[in-house]
Amino acid sequence: MKHSKSEASSDDGVDRRVFVKTAAAVGATGLAMPVWGSATASDRIKVGLVGCGGRGTGAANQAINADPGVMLWAMGDVYEDRLKNSFNGLKNQHGTRVMVGDERRFVGFDAIDKVLDSGVDVIILATPPGFRPDHLEKSVAAGKHVFCEKPMATDMPGLRKVMETAKKAKAQGTQLMSGFCWRYAAPERAVYGEINDGALGEIESVHSTYHTGPLGTRARTPDMTDMDFQLRNWQHVNWLSGDIIVEQAVHSVDKMNWAMGNRPPVKATALGGRGLREGAERGDVFDHFAVVYEWDNGARGFLTCRQVPNCSNDNTDWIAGTKGIGFVNGWAPRQSNLKFADGSKEFRYRGGTPNMYQTEHNELFKAIRDGELLNDGDWMTQSVAMGILGREAGYSGRTITWDEIMNSQKSIVPEDPQFGPMPPLEIPAPGVYKFS
Ligand SMILES: NC(=O)c1ccc[n+]([C@@H]2O[C@H](COP(=O)([O-])OP(=O)(O)OC[C@H]3O[C@@H](n4cnc5c(N)ncnc54)[C@H](O)[C@@H]3O)[C@@H](O)[C@H]2O)c1
Repeated sequence: MKHSKSEASSDDGVDRRVFVKTAAAVGATGLAMPVWGSATASDRIKVGLVGCGGRGTGAANQAINADPGVMLWAMGDVYEDRLKNSFNGLKNQHGTRVMVGDERRFVGFDAIDKVLDSGVDVIILATPPGFRPDHLEKSVAAGKHVFCEKPMATDMPGLRKVMETAKKAKAQGTQLMSGFCWRYAAPERAVYGEINDGALGEIESVHSTYHTGPLGTRARTPDMTDMDFQLRNWQHVNWLSGDIIVEQAVHSVDKMNWAMGNRPPVKATALGGRGLREGAERGDVFDHFAVVYEWDNGARGFLTCRQVPNCSNDNTDWIAGTKGIGFVNGWAPRQSNLKFADGSKEFRYRGGTPNMYQTEHNELFKAIRDGELLNDGDWMTQSVAMGILGREAGYSGRTITWDEIMNSQKSIVPEDPQFGPMPPLEIPAPGVYKFS
């Protein structure tokens, strides 16, 4: 897309419009929507991206597409090569909407601080999730609107920090949107909306799957420190990713939580392990989990997730209630339907299937303009806690209650991550691993 020259002119010295201080102020300063190519400096919404990988670059693209006043203003990553690739791709695609000069490209663990200091209004947090609690806390403390990718933490001390941060965002009136993208998908909204409205009666069981192949790895090279090796293979390192159940299958856990009306389970029991013996790149994570969640009314949720090559893949949910059964296919939403025990006509979503990732950003930037406050804090942290509960039950081999997980003190993220040596990674052994 081409843009007018005036749009490209630097506005470093222009007074930014202050978008938020309180929810009321959001409404009071709500901006008129500029038309394409006519965004003046005061219409602009400056976005910062921290974590310039696949998802972060995608989210920045969607932010730019969401609103003609959005400018990508600053970028941060621990690696120059990742930042450069992301910048080049976005610059080629969006030209002058990407206003990230050399002075606003930050590399290192402190990139988050520098992006937050660069004058952005909105921040996209898309690093590996081990860093999310800290990055979120800093972003909200700096008064920024936040789009944060899932999951929001890899351990409970981190997640409790996110819970506090989410409350602060609400209190100060800044936006907090999660990357739980299926919550923003039109077909899922229709189906889970019907379920939450009671179309299937009381929900008695949910079976959710996330079965797919393994994520990529990067071989160790002589220049890599332990930290580099872990960061370049972060999906396979528990402190960085939260394991496959928290990093990926948490989408299915989140839909289970949605089907249950965002009510937490009372306990979980799980099996898990690692069938394939591969190289050090595969870190310390499992390649499969099977979790049984139990609710206080006797309802049960069954989650199976797997990352193993050459097996059948699946991303579906079966939801059985007293009045019928629902089926949701996350990868083929037009197959989703509700069938009713009384024989009445089934429910099927017949509307469009707009890109859910784009919908997230359309809604975020519209909310910023309109002064409507979005805060995904409660349910997003509950879904992540359910993921961590399933993982810890799988690692330890013991049934863990909701109260136990909410009070878990196990901290797995280093206090002050730096490049250099790291303790060796240990693959958990059920029956030996101690939950705390
Ligand atoms: N919602 C979805 O469907 C979806 C899809 C994919 C990924 N994700 C999530 O998005 C996040 C990023 O995943 P990805 O696939 O883009 O990974 P990625 O590896 O492509 O990108 C992560 C980037 O973060 C950088 N990084 C690492 N530590 C950093 C730090 N401390 N400060 C700044 N930058 C840092 C890395 O160098 C890398 O460029 C994860 O939380 C992942 O779970 C969500």
